[in-house]
Amino acid sequence: MSAVIQLDALSKDYFTDAGAVSVLKGVSLTISRGEFVAIMGPSGSGKSTLMNILGCLDIPSGGAYRLDGTDIGTLPESELARLRGQVIGFVFQGFNLLPRMSLGNNVALPLVYQHVGKSERLTRAADMLSRVGLGHLVDSLPTRISGGQQQRVAIARALVTRPSLILADEPTGNLDSHTGREIMELFQRINREQGITLVLVTHDMSVARYAQRLVYLKDGVLAYDGPVAEFQGVTA
Ligand SMILES: Nc1ncnc2c1ncn2[C@@H]1O[C@H](COP(=O)(O)OP(=O)(O)OP(=O)(O)O)[C@@H](O)[C@H]1O
Ligand SMILES: [Mg+2]
Repeated sequence: MSAVIQLDALSKDYFTDAGAVSVLKGVSLTISRGEFVAIMGPSGSGKSTLMNILGCLDIPSGGAYRLDGTDIGTLPESELARLRGQVIGFVFQGFNLLPRMSLGNNVALPLVYQHVGKSERLTRAADMLSRVGLGHLVDSLPTRISGGQQQRVAIARALVTRPSLILADEPTGNLDSHTGREIMELFQRINREQGITLVLVTHDMSVARYAQRLVYLKDGVLAYDGPVAEFQGVTA
């Protein structure tokens, strides 16, 4: 299996008025193509910081990050933007759909930035909405559908560019537990059927169990990295 993500002694410091804060302190991690990895850890442990770096939305302070074999530290911003658009799909807790735009146009939006023609955009968006069970709502507005449906739309939007990696930061955080399970079954299907690598942050162990592997961050270091089923918790 080839590595999609390779982190070598990755660190991240933030500089604030109060001084430097070290948030990630030497994280080494390899994620292979087709893996489904859950990231857990207490609030403030650095999960979102790590996801932002994995998504090329932020750069490391030290160490190295290779995405698909490319050292992202050597790339100019234009190349990072291309990777964000073509290799990575993002799903967030808050769905981030544009309220005045139809679901079809919301899903098609990432393709605008890739200069895909209008008719192909709409065909691909409709196809993605069908795959997440919402083909009949292509002309509806995001404000008229449930939270679970909105998250399905956000997942369709993340998939429409045919990324090799999906990054999801607490994608079930705003959903009730039943709807959360439906969304996790959808993620599991995407991972198994399309072989898309999935990295997902959650506070909920029952959500993490849909993954194969668990990475537990504590104070900016890896406190556990192994099968979800063998996770016994982390001692202080
Ligand atoms: N832009 C920033 N500037 C300064 N400090 C930051 C910045 N972003 C995050 N931090 C700090 O870094 C630490 C880790 O934040 P991060 O958002 O990665 O945590 P998290 O594990 O995602 O937490 P949560 O579970 O609450 O989402 C926190 O102490 C936070 O205050
Ligand atoms: Mg977070």
